[in-house]
Amino acid sequence: MSEHPPEHPPVQRPQAEPVTHIDDERFRVTEWRFAPGAETGWHRHGHDYVIVPLTDGTLGLDLAGGGRAEAALTQGLPYSRRVGVEHNVTNAGPAPLSFLEVEVVDDVRDQARLAVMARLMDCFNARDLDGLMGCMSADPAFRGSAGPLAEGVIHQGQAAVRASYAALFDAFPRAAWLEGAHHIAGETGFSTWRFQGTDAAGSEVDVRGCDIFRFEGDLIAVKDSYRKARS
Ligand code: NI
Repeated sequence: MSEHPPEHPPVQRPQAEPVTHIDDERFRVTEWRFAPGAETGWHRHGHDYVIVPLTDGTLGLDLAGGGRAEAALTQGLPYSRRVGVEHNVTNAGPAPLSFLEVEVVDDVRDQARLAVMARLMDCFNARDLDGLMGCMSADPAFRGSAGPLAEGVIHQGQAAVRASYAALFDAFPRAAWLEGAHHIAGETGFSTWRFQGTDAAGSEVDVRGCDIFRFEGDLIAVKDSYRKARS
């Protein structure tokens, strides 16, 4: 949860007490303990989340639109909400209450990696070498689809990858990567596309293909390319 500035002078209420149980790359699990009348303060949820009530109780909810609602908590009966919920939560009942908040926190990393895959394709279409290398990690590899190896051809390191991208632009004075679709699963991403281009000899190429990516952080460490072989 992130801080949200109050739009009105805050009422003096005790603060709910957060206890972090799990905080790793995929999950954050926080136990929230509320004395009667205690509040979380205004916050916006940055991730999808599940609430697991540890007690029965009644939540008072100040809502972003200015309204107020109450919700009954039943011990052990969970509910889920999506990213973007904005509210201040209070204990509206006479007894202490608590719940576990389970947040899925790797959605932000997935979105960043999907954005890098989309940007890489945009940079290929713009023939933007600096932009392309800005999507690659410090020591990237590019495995081209055609070459003498089982892997096709391997270009290792920033300079070699940059030179191979430049050579591709030289080989295809006209080149377009179309119909891009991007997916992410953990450290692995893949993009599908249709390549249409004209090579330096004037021959037309129109072929579907894909890239399988391995990520380091938000950047591409390996770009492994595959194309259909037309016959
Ligand atoms: Ni909340």
